[in-house]
Parts: sequence; C-alpha cells; structure tokens
Amino acid sequence: MTTTAPVCALPDAGVPLAELRERAWEARTALGDRAVVLGHHYQKDEVIEFADVTGDSFLLARRGAAATEAELIVFLGVYFMAEAADVLKSPGQTVVLPDLGAGCHLAECADIFTVRDAWDQMTAALPGRRVVPLTYMNSGADLKAFVGEHGGAVCTSGNAERAFRWALSEGDAVFFFPDEHLGRNTACRLGMAPGEPLVWNPRLAALGGLAEEALAASQVILWKGFCNVHTAFTARQVAEARAADPGVHVIVHPECPRPVVEAADEDGSTEYIIRRCEELPAGSSIVVGTDWNLVNRLRRRHPDKRISCLREDICPCVTMNRIDLPKLTWCLESLAAGEIVNVVAVDEEMARLGRLALDRMLAL
Ligand code: 13P
Ligand code: SF4
Repeated sequence: MTTTAPVCALPDAGVPLAELRERAWEARTALGDRAVVLGHHYQKDEVIEFADVTGDSFLLARRGAAATEAELIVFLGVYFMAEAADVLKSPGQTVVLPDLGAGCHLAECADIFTVRDAWDQMTAALPGRRVVPLTYMNSGADLKAFVGEHGGAVCTSGNAERAFRWALSEGDAVFFFPDEHLGRNTACRLGMAPGEPLVWNPRLAALGGLAEEALAASQVILWKGFCNVHTAFTARQVAEARAADPGVHVIVHPECPRPVVEAADEDGSTEYIIRRCEELPAGSSIVVGTDWNLVNRLRRRHPDKRISCLREDICPCVTMNRIDLPKLTWCLESLAAGEIVNVVAVDEEMARLGRLALDRMLAL
C-alpha cells in the first residue's frame, strides 16, 4: 500500500496567531466562491470571523440545504451539525469539519443500539398505541435515519414545540431523545406539568425503569440524556443574579434543567437569545445561561447593555472549542492546495432516511 504525504501540515505550535490569521485569510480568499463557511454561534472568535453564515443549528441546517453554488461546505461547529449539512447538501458538494473529533456530549448520550432496543421494548409494551420518535438535532446521523424510518422527525431548540405538537397530532405519544431537559421544557410549553413526562433510563435494562401501566398512559417519554454545559446552570445562580441586580433580565437555553428555565424570564435557542439581546433596550442588564463564547461576544456587541454569563467561570463547550485557528488554517490551506481533508460523509441509505426526518422538520 502506498501512502501520500499530506500537502499541508498542521501549523507548528510556535507560529504566532497573527500569522495564522493572515495565512487562513489568504487560503480563504484563494478558495473564493468554491467554498462556503458555516459557523455555529458557540464557535470561538478566532474562527467565527471566517464564517459566511452564522446561526443556530436550525438555521445552519436550512442554510446547508439552501441553494449555494459552493462545492465545499466548511463547517465550524460539531460533528452532528456537519453530518446534517452532508445529508441536506446538493449533489457535488462536500462537507468538511476542521477537527473530526469535535463531538457533542449530549449527542453521545444516545446511540443507535440502545435507542433501537428501547424502541423495540416500548412498542412491544404498547400494542395499539402509536409512538412517534423525535430526535433532537444533537444526535448522530444513524439516529436521524432511525426516526426517518419510523415516521418521526428531527427538531432543534428553535422548533421543538412545533415538532412535539406535530408528533402528538400524528400519534398517541412522543418518544424524544437524547435531551431530557429540552424535552421536559417543551412538554411544559404544551401545558404539561414538569413531572408528567416519563424518563426512559437506558441504564436500567427493563423498560428503561418504567412501569408498563405508566408507559401506557403517558404522552411524552424522554431519554435520560443531558448537555454538560447547560446542566452546570442552577436556579440558585438565577436567584443570586436577581439578588445582585433586581432589574436583571435572565434568558437561558432550553437545554437547561426545568428549575433554571422556570427561574429565568425566558428561554430559547441561540438565535433567539441573540435576537432578544438586540431587542432589549439600551441600559438593560441581561444575564444569559448558555455557552460562554456566545455570551462574551454579545457583551462586546452591545456595549450599551450590561450582558453577563449566568456563570462567568463556566467552561465553554470543549468540543465546540476543538475548532481553533491552527486547525482551520490547516484545513483551508489544504483545500486551497487541492487536498480535500476531514470529509464528513454520511452513508447513502442513512442519508436518505435521515433526510426524510430532516425534511419533515423543515416542513413544520
Ligand atoms: P442551538 O440550536 O440553539 O444553536 O443549540 C445547539 C446546541 O448545541 C446548544 O447546546
Ligand atoms: Fe453539545 Fe452541549 Fe456543546 Fe451544545 S453546548 S454542542 S449540546 S455539548
């Protein structure tokens, strides 16, 4: 077997950031319209400046599907987002992710084997009841394909309420994975009590730890998964922020646990949080419960408002942060030199089924 040496190497650790930035821009400019760069709001400043489009995962999924002529989609985000872009891309396009190790803690909380086993147990225990599977965008392409195959859909934090309403109009119950918290917050938006949705614990072998009668009576079954960033926020932190400044306006992401969302003034997707920070009047004091990179950018973007993170010492999403300037420089330089690196390519049949589920979401 012959191996060819890569055209470009990862920049040496000694290269100053300013030089990397120059090199990355040079490569980006050389690529021109052949490439489009999509960036999620949690990306660091050192890379987000290269994004042609920024957005939450819903907007980026739509944008990935939009009519762009670019043959290369460079994704600044995490793996599941790049996979969704690959599923929705046009023929002839290629999706690349500057670091293939940029995963998502939450997405890793559910895998196809455990979900399929749960589904088989659940449907066997519920004869005559139609369960509609819904997966959060933060999940692997195989899980999106699974819900596509079983008449379900994908949803994001920006359209979860609509997706739940749709699923409940299609069937008797919704099975939502992998985020318990987004699921509970969405069920509450539909008027349910926080304790009403059942939680399927994949670590408990029989029926996820649930009683058959409870399962038969339930409308919402949630997977026991969570985001390690958003579960670091607490209702106590909200109370402390209010004690420090009684006029403060608190906005959190719906991946936060229910007590945090209840204590906050409002919750919504990253795109929603950005819009609300724009809309609130000058002089407002705003505390935001989501990834620190985004909050810090909002703070700088609105010097006429006092914007802070609900927990200033929080660790930013480490997997999002794997996309950094050295890797982006390497990726862009490789692409400009004609070497297509770090391709994210979903298996054809998986992509066909996943597309069904994503199309159902986009049609909502
Ligand atoms: P958004 O869809 O709100 O951007 O959220 C994605 C995400 O990963 C939040 O943790
Ligand atoms: Fe995943 Fe949480 Fe990071 Fe979002 S913030 S990408 S849900 S680990």
